[in-house]
Amino acid sequence: MTASLALDGSDRPRVWRLPGVYRPQEDSYLLASALADAGGTAGARVLDFCTGSGFLAVNAALLGADSVTAFDIAPRAVLTARVNAWSRRLPIRARRGGLDAALQHGPFDVVLSNPPYVPCEGENLDPRWDAGADGRCVLDPLCDSLPSLLAPGGFALIVHSEFTGVDATLGRLRDADLKASVVARSRIPFGPVLRSRAGYLYSSQLAEPGTATEEVVVVRADRPRLKS
Ligand SMILES: C[S@@+](CC[C@H](N)C(=O)[O-])C[C@H]1O[C@@H](n2cnc3c(N)ncnc32)[C@H](O)[C@@H]1O
Repeated sequence: MTASLALDGSDRPRVWRLPGVYRPQEDSYLLASALADAGGTAGARVLDFCTGSGFLAVNAALLGADSVTAFDIAPRAVLTARVNAWSRRLPIRARRGGLDAALQHGPFDVVLSNPPYVPCEGENLDPRWDAGADGRCVLDPLCDSLPSLLAPGGFALIVHSEFTGVDATLGRLRDADLKASVVARSRIPFGPVLRSRAGYLYSSQLAEPGTATEEVVVVRADRPRLKS
């Protein structure tokens, strides 16, 4: 499970960002690398759910996707993704909305998502990364919707932290009759967000006290082809 592309993003397309829009980083790069390794993007209808700057949408379009539909709830993210698509003349449509909106635009051959997945205390603090007490408030509905979002024979690549529960994701996808496995992993030091949440991770037993690194994983889910 070695990534074929650099995990520091040095060989990835650079994207412009409005202030407040998520900066592509290790999780984005790991997912982009897994997408390049997966093959099957050329000519595909791709969904980039939780697009942020549009970084993954741009990667998919550069791999030859026929069309990329990118969704985000944040207006600044949608504007940023539109600028990054337009400046490269790529076939990306960035739209504002969540899962209900995305479901109206499918099905897709490839679904990509780097959703917010950081476990946090109380109300969600920052929708760029915070995702409820267990980090799964966007991830679980996304997993449950994949059978509808994906065309038969299509696949999804989703990135998240070990602290969000890899087995929970695999189990949820298999319960939805999808084939599911981990296709890429990378261990990285806590960044500023996780450092500020470390106390909660330890007290809620999502991480061993003293832990200062996290493993980020890419989970692949495949919808079987229809039997002829
Ligand atoms: C971790 S960032 C990922 C951005 C980008 N895909 C990347 O990898 O660089 C998550 C993004 O999801 C968006 N978001 C949060 N909740 C969402 C939801 N329910 N539906 C759609 N987008 C959401 C945030 O605004 C943020 O831009």
